[in-house]
Amino acid sequence: MKVPIIVDGLRVEIDQGTPIINAARKAGVFIPTLCYHEALKPYGSCRLCMVEVVHDKQRRLVTSCNFPAEGGMEVFTDTSRVRQIRRMIVELLLARCPEVLMIRTMAKQMGIESSMFKKREANECILCGLCVRFCEEVVGVSAIGLANRGIDREVATPFKVASDVCIGCGACTYICPTGCIEMVPDEKTPRLRRMKMGNLTLVPCTNNYQCESCPREENFLAEMKNVITEFRSTYRRFTEKK
Ligand code: SF4
Ligand code: SF4
Ligand code: FES
Repeated sequence: MKVPIIVDGLRVEIDQGTPIINAARKAGVFIPTLCYHEALKPYGSCRLCMVEVVHDKQRRLVTSCNFPAEGGMEVFTDTSRVRQIRRMIVELLLARCPEVLMIRTMAKQMGIESSMFKKREANECILCGLCVRFCEEVVGVSAIGLANRGIDREVATPFKVASDVCIGCGACTYICPTGCIEMVPDEKTPRLRRMKMGNLTLVPCTNNYQCESCPREENFLAEMKNVITEFRSTYRRFTEKK
């Protein structure tokens, strides 16, 4: 059902329950995000997409990437409360990732010159979780996850050892907005790649991507042969009966 909502004074018709961020985009209003990606389920962790909504005479702050828009709602994306929250998030990230270009650019756009938060050891990971969710939801293997808490939070393979489920597709490296996951050539072995995540260097594939001599590959091909043989014999039986 189509319903009207107002975003920064602009009226837009959307399907009831559409996330506010999509309604805003339809109205041509930009809301900054870090952990949102249209190919993934909303996660609502970075809080950068906060907006104020007024509905049923109540005003409140919500994350626009996962909050459903309802008919009659009024959304404000650039109030002083919203700007204050965004500033705090960007200052926190500036203290954690002072070298990351997208954070520096956001800070500059907001007129932030320095962070009020204590500087930590420089890190390139903004903890958006996009790589982890892409690996799980799109690639379907869950080879990496967010480990530890607080300032020690990081992306890693379980127990920080070679993952035996990573297929080396490199999707996590493409989606990472800061470039802190990379597939880098193995210095000692030409043609092989390692995965570099911030300060960690891991070999995600236990067989160093040597697919030709991989027991997993052999098992997979053997299984495929069985499936094909089975299919052919069923098909033959079926056509012979006719
Ligand atoms: S390279 Fe490995 S960790 Fe990265 S998305 Fe592909 S399977 Fe997941
Ligand atoms: S490695 Fe990249 S994509 Fe993954 S959480 Fe960190 S910044 Fe986000
Ligand atoms: S983009 Fe909405 S919480 Fe991160």
